[in-house]
Amino acid sequence: MQGSLAAWMAAKLLTVEAALEAWVTDASVPQLGWGAPTGLVQAMRYAVLDGGKRLRPLLVLAAYEAVAPAAPTQADVAALRAACAVELIHAYSLVHDDMPCMDNDVLRRGKPTVHVKFGEAGALLAGDALQALAFELLTPDDGSVPHAVQGRLCAVLSRAAGSTGMAGGQAIDLASVGLALTEPELRHMHQLKTGALLQASVMLGAVCGQASESVQLALAAYGQAIGLAFQVVDDVLDVTADSAALGKTAGKDADNDKPTYVSLLGLEASRQLARDLLVQAHSALRASGLAHTTALAGLANLVVQRSH
Ligand code: IPE
Ligand code: IPE
Ligand code: MG
Ligand code: MG
Ligand code: MG
Repeated sequence: MQGSLAAWMAAKLLTVEAALEAWVTDASVPQLGWGAPTGLVQAMRYAVLDGGKRLRPLLVLAAYEAVAPAAPTQADVAALRAACAVELIHAYSLVHDDMPCMDNDVLRRGKPTVHVKFGEAGALLAGDALQALAFELLTPDDGSVPHAVQGRLCAVLSRAAGSTGMAGGQAIDLASVGLALTEPELRHMHQLKTGALLQASVMLGAVCGQASESVQLALAAYGQAIGLAFQVVDDVLDVTADSAALGKTAGKDADNDKPTYVSLLGLEASRQLARDLLVQAHSALRASGLAHTTALAGLANLVVQRSH
């Protein structure tokens, strides 16, 4: 099973990389008569290409294939667009997260951060433009994605990215520096800043595959469990892994006086929580009644057992 998961991932990663490479570009709209400024496109490409585990796109495609194993080609197009769109939102969130006004980090995906390379205004604008491009990807005007599907995808992604999702969680994160949050407060922060986009990735795939109400509920529970588990593990790795393995600066949370699961519960209880959440994710998958969940199950394992 592990072998086939690896093969599935390798194939999907190739597809996603090629699509991002093609879509994050100076695609001048012919009717406009001009393209995007070269420096801005360079910063956007620097932020998105050559790095990242691509977990969110993989979740979109895994959920889509679980729901619609033999879906028509038209839905495949929507799923690939959704996979890339959520990765663009994620990449933009990382660009802004690393800026001096937020976590002030100089290393991301093994490279100098975008603001180090392109300046703060360059990083700000690259993030802005990536966010807009995500929604452009979801709304092609060539008839390839039905308007009703476009609307659902935009609703799911915008809610997960906005003030009651990732951006809201980031605001709580910044307001929590130096504070000792309770477990429910910390969980809420993590669910928003990180969990929301991961859960949305699963739901975007479910939308593309036209999942039934009950399957959507089960997948939402799966997505919620792995979403929280992901940030719990991120907190653990910040303490236990080194910068070379992470491709970002280790030890940053303690340096910035951030409340994390490690600062609240300690390392071992945090690891146990991640394992408990993994059990919840697997049981949600079983409850979905879906037959083709190998990739979703394998990605959940990866979220918890990863080393970077
Ligand atoms: C890092 O996410 C930021 C968090 C939400 C904790 P990832 O660990 O998925 O980063 P990449 O995409 O692989 O670089
Ligand atoms: C960031 O959380 C979550 C985002 C919305 C980007 P962290 O600040 O812990 O992410 P890393 O550790 O810098 O990747
Ligand atoms: Mg942060
Ligand atoms: Mg950070
Ligand atoms: Mg972190």
